[in-house]
Amino acid sequence: MTGAKNSVLKLMAAALLAEGTTTLTDVPDILDVSIMSEVLRRLGCTVERGPGTVAISVPEVLGHEADYDLVRRMRASIAVLGPLVARCGEAKVALPGGDAIGSRGLDFHIAGLTKLGATVESEHGYLIARAARLTGAPVWLDFPSVGATENLLMAGVLAKGTTTIDNAAREPEIVDLCEFLVEMGAQIGGIGTSTLEVEGVERLAPVVSHATVPDRIVAGTYAVAAVMTQGDVLVRHGRAAHLEIALDKLVSAGATVDLEADGFRVRMDRRPTSVDVVTLPYPGFPTDLQPMVLALNAVAEGTAMITENVFEARWMFVNELSRLGADVRTDGHHAVVRGRPRLAGAPVRAHDIRAGAALVLAGLVAEGTTEVGDVHHVDRGYQDFVASLTRLGADVRRETVPEDPF
Ligand code: UD1
Repeated sequence: MTGAKNSVLKLMAAALLAEGTTTLTDVPDILDVSIMSEVLRRLGCTVERGPGTVAISVPEVLGHEADYDLVRRMRASIAVLGPLVARCGEAKVALPGGDAIGSRGLDFHIAGLTKLGATVESEHGYLIARAARLTGAPVWLDFPSVGATENLLMAGVLAKGTTTIDNAAREPEIVDLCEFLVEMGAQIGGIGTSTLEVEGVERLAPVVSHATVPDRIVAGTYAVAAVMTQGDVLVRHGRAAHLEIALDKLVSAGATVDLEADGFRVRMDRRPTSVDVVTLPYPGFPTDLQPMVLALNAVAEGTAMITENVFEARWMFVNELSRLGADVRTDGHHAVVRGRPRLAGAPVRAHDIRAGAALVLAGLVAEGTTEVGDVHHVDRGYQDFVASLTRLGADVRRETVPEDPF
């Protein structure tokens, strides 16, 4: 199990807060890390990748602009907004496009930074935030947004005075970011709770070595794969405590989950029973595992209701899954999945990272061959996906197809 994509990208952005060299370990070898490396290079940093590591050298004087050509490829680039305004007094970040999963506004980021004294404008496709020095303030979020919590944390650590973030997100990746910021010299109370108290400091120091928290979504993907294929998978370095509800759902579906010295093991010896799932911010069922559990229900015995509360339009992949014969109906936030004894392979397309991974899992149990197109999305979040599945006994190949002339 590698470090979490959703953590390492923010740790890389947070490194901007201190001049000098920060080294991160347990860094996954995925496309998004390359994109974030390029974002940082264009800001003036030197970024060196080693096997599982990234060393970021941050100069005294930083650039403050993140261009559209990178931000549109990876929405998480928005994480440089908070650190840049805190460190440079100004940030100009292109408005992201990102995954095709709902509207994903930035209003909480903007409202929060404004409360900390920044002026934020949007102009010609860019978000521009300015503040000579941010000042701490109480901020509350209408929804515990992961990205907004992170940007406000990274802005608050160098602000003058105290920032409290109420209704903060408390995903394990936020805890990892808080711990990293504390290693840099930040003062943060309430880590892991929904009220974060940040006492601003004058300056932060780089971190010699910080290990990225393991990726719970990748771990969860292999766990679901084990259940769907009626297999036996040991998820090394997987932290079961970060997947409590998700693993509990797999047990309800009929799986056996055992904690091991260094990870957990998931076994399944029969067709899964359908399970209802409601996505919610952590510690609720993660929205990023919703496509996988939907795919699982597509081959389960019985009917399941899936409720998506985090992203409004995360059903795009349902059309693709239907091409494999899945029986799914969606209405607003809900999807009703009637399990079928079998799916049938067909060509399908990945619209985002998680949908892509879920389609691969569906392909593993579909009769015949499933061809998943646009797998570059999967490369954004899964290191060696094909090799790992092959090691587990799956028949998966990566193929380059000739470019579509139309
Ligand atoms: C992060 C994760 C993503 C995960 C999501 C929820 C990264 C790189 N991505 O995305 O994989 O699915 O958390 O766990 O870490 N919202 C607003 N206004 C805002 C901010 C958010 O309305 O200013 C809404 C979004 O449209 C969405 C919801 O809040 O409906 C959750 O978004 P958020 O938690 O911010 O997700 P991200 O940080 O984008």
